Amino acid sequence: MIVAIDGPAAAGKGTLAKRLAEHFDLAFLDTGRLYRAVGHLVLDRGGDPGNPADAVGAARALDPENLDSVDLYTETVAEAASKLAAIPDVRKVLLAFQQAFARTPPGGKPGAVLDGRDIGSVVCPDADVKLFVTARAEIRAERRHKELQEKGLKSTYAAVLAEIEARDERDRTRKVSPLKAGDAREIDTSEKSPDAVFEEARAYIEDLSS
Ligand code: C5P
Repeated sequence: MIVAIDGPAAAGKGTLAKRLAEHFDLAFLDTGRLYRAVGHLVLDRGGDPGNPADAVGAARALDPENLDSVDLYTETVAEAASKLAAIPDVRKVLLAFQQAFARTPPGGKPGAVLDGRDIGSVVCPDADVKLFVTARAEIRAERRHKELQEKGLKSTYAAVLAEIEARDERDRTRKVSPLKAGDAREIDTSEKSPDAVFEEARAYIEDLSS
């Protein structure tokens, strides 16, 4: 079983994806981490995330099996990620790893949950389940701001809101693999607790497979 979860920044995709993976005993891939890791590497090398040569070079040098060691959480890294995510050759390099993960999930699991921006449209267009998780920008910024503070990272609500809005705009309007709901079932998490979102998705998946 393949579950594709897409949506804008900080909408609650990761939280939902992890819970669904645990519940249905599936592997989990946060594809944003791949783009963030490339962004981190470009910045580390003193490169420009919007420059195709710098970004593709970093994407090729990435070891996708080894992403846990670096801190990829900052909004600086997220911004770099969204700039290089608009470069077609970067997406091509990362696509192969994502599709291999879905085809042969690690740990012998019977399927996988992948979350990102183009999972249901490009990475796994034949996914058994497609969800589009969204929320109002102000709510997403509030949640992300709180998360960053809890991690001890410096952040202001206004800066996070501006960054999230700029990133969403870039992700929605780029030519390759833009963020869109397509044929996915939409879940707006603005007024819902993580438990309520999980229950809604679980019920939807169980309905589909019965
Ligand atoms: O999901 P996350 O916020 O970590 O993603 C960081 C950035 O990576 C996004 O803003 C987006 O530009 C890019 N991304 C993408 N396609 C994906 C996952 C992430 O373009 N499947």
